[in-house]
Amino acid sequence: MLTVLPLIALALAPASLVEAKSSFLTHAHKVAVKHSAGLARDLRVAFGGVLVTQQTTSSNQNVYCVSSNGIGVSVPASNHSSPSSSSPTSTTTGTAAPSSSSVASSPWKAVQNYTGQTFFNGWDFYNLPDPTNGNVQYVDQGTAQSAGLIQINSNGNAVMGVETTPQVQSNRQSVRITTQAIFSGGLVVMDAVHMPTGCATWPAFWTNGPNWPAGGEIDIIEGVNNYTNNQATIHTNPGCSLPSTSSTSLNMSGTLVASTDCSASETSNQGCGIRSSLSNSFGSGFNGNGGGVYAMLWDNSGIKVFFFPRGSIPSDISAGAPQPQGWPSPMANFPATDCNPYQFFNNHSAIFDTTLCGDWAGAVWNGTGVPGQDVSCAQQTGFSTCAAFVQASGASFSEAYWEVSSVMIYQNTTS
Ligand SMILES: *[C@@H]1O[C@H](CO)[C@@H](O)[C@H](O)[C@H]1NC(C)=O
Ligand SMILES: *[C@@H]1O[C@H](CO)[C@@H](O)[C@H](O)[C@H]1NC(C)=O
Ligand SMILES: *[C@@H]1O[C@H](CO)[C@@H](O)[C@H](O)[C@H]1NC(C)=O
Ligand SMILES: *[C@@H]1O[C@H](CO)[C@@H](O)[C@H](O)[C@H]1NC(C)=O
Ligand SMILES: *[C@@H]1O[C@H](CO)[C@@H](O)[C@H](O)[C@H]1NC(C)=O
Ligand SMILES: *[C@@H]1O[C@H](CO)[C@@H](O)[C@H](O)[C@H]1NC(C)=O
Repeated sequence: MLTVLPLIALALAPASLVEAKSSFLTHAHKVAVKHSAGLARDLRVAFGGVLVTQQTTSSNQNVYCVSSNGIGVSVPASNHSSPSSSSPTSTTTGTAAPSSSSVASSPWKAVQNYTGQTFFNGWDFYNLPDPTNGNVQYVDQGTAQSAGLIQINSNGNAVMGVETTPQVQSNRQSVRITTQAIFSGGLVVMDAVHMPTGCATWPAFWTNGPNWPAGGEIDIIEGVNNYTNNQATIHTNPGCSLPSTSSTSLNMSGTLVASTDCSASETSNQGCGIRSSLSNSFGSGFNGNGGGVYAMLWDNSGIKVFFFPRGSIPSDISAGAPQPQGWPSPMANFPATDCNPYQFFNNHSAIFDTTLCGDWAGAVWNGTGVPGQDVSCAQQTGFSTCAAFVQASGASFSEAYWEVSSVMIYQNTTS
């Protein structure tokens, strides 16, 4: 969910504003406000640490390599001309197996292809304290491997779980990974067959830029506890907004959760959150349908998040030759008219994480009224706090895992 911050911001605001009953809401809001003051600093520190690590550890992860396809390329923040002048086959950022395969019918070329046995190549494992105050200890790759938290399973999918030891004293081990590849603009396509679900869980798949919120945050998949409907959110510097509250006007299938002001500082980190109308877009609903594909399109028209449930995935995506202009309406649309996508967003990495409790899942432990959460987690589990449940109930986290078939990052070679 976040680089720390971003996620948090997201999660907090919508959750607190919309779902909670009043006292609960007030509490969550206070939490959000409290964190907003120091959070940016904390995030910067955390994210800066990641960047330093990248620059000092590797000879083969040239984060800012000069490729012409946008990944790792420095793009002027003021505006963006899509990476047109570069050859699509020259991109080799990071250690993930780059794909140079191209399908003639699509201008979108894969510049990163994380899949199969080499899925985890090209990601950094974050192991600092969770910036969103969750009851997790993020671990390095070796620890995650030996503890069985990550693996490539017999289906060739990447699995990222949390520790299921019956009882722990404080936090459970978990995984948070960040692409070494950095991109400004592009198309991110993620295919998963399972995602973390259940009380206390707060999973996210998102992208984030430097100096939060200056580099922007795009939360593609996010939610907590038993939620079944995804929420996509952006968090930015002041000046970025949505032109309407109407789903029809915005040409999207989802629904605005709260603010049209996407500024983190002006909304207590709420940002602009949009909830999917589909109950198979998150959590147990997503898993019960065999998952699906999320795509985040970031181009001159703005930022869009698409969701395709298993069984409704466009064939051009499956073929590795995406044609976004032919897809049905996105679940979320953040048009460029009121938010320049290259001014408010730049130099993003993609991130997976699973935290437990913390600023969102913990804050809505007693909450109901969000799709999937008819009964509160406090009532379902019999634990009055999220943290106590986490510490005492390891077997409850057997569903708290990502199972990902692939993450592809594409750049448009013709625009
Ligand atoms: C993006 O990263 C590049 C390479 O480090 C850097 O030159 C550029 O200033 C960054 N852009 C912004 C807006 O920070
Ligand atoms: C930014 O890009 C848009 C669309 O390509 C163009 O119309 C506009 O003039 C550009 N703005 C600047 C400042 O380059
Ligand atoms: C909600 O979470 C609880 C605790 O993890 C779990 O037992 C229950 O099955 C979940 N409910 C649904 C509908 O998934
Ligand atoms: C919605 O779609 C219509 C028709 O394609 C287009 O004219 C309009 O600009 C779109 N609005 C937004 C906010 O994207
Ligand atoms: C991604 O890599 C896998 C494994 O190398 C390959 O089978 C697949 O065709 C690649 N996908 C694309 C779109 O290049
Ligand atoms: C949830 O309710 C319990 C009492 O049932 C209370 O002790 C606890 O503080 C509440 N938690 C939150 C996050 O409001």
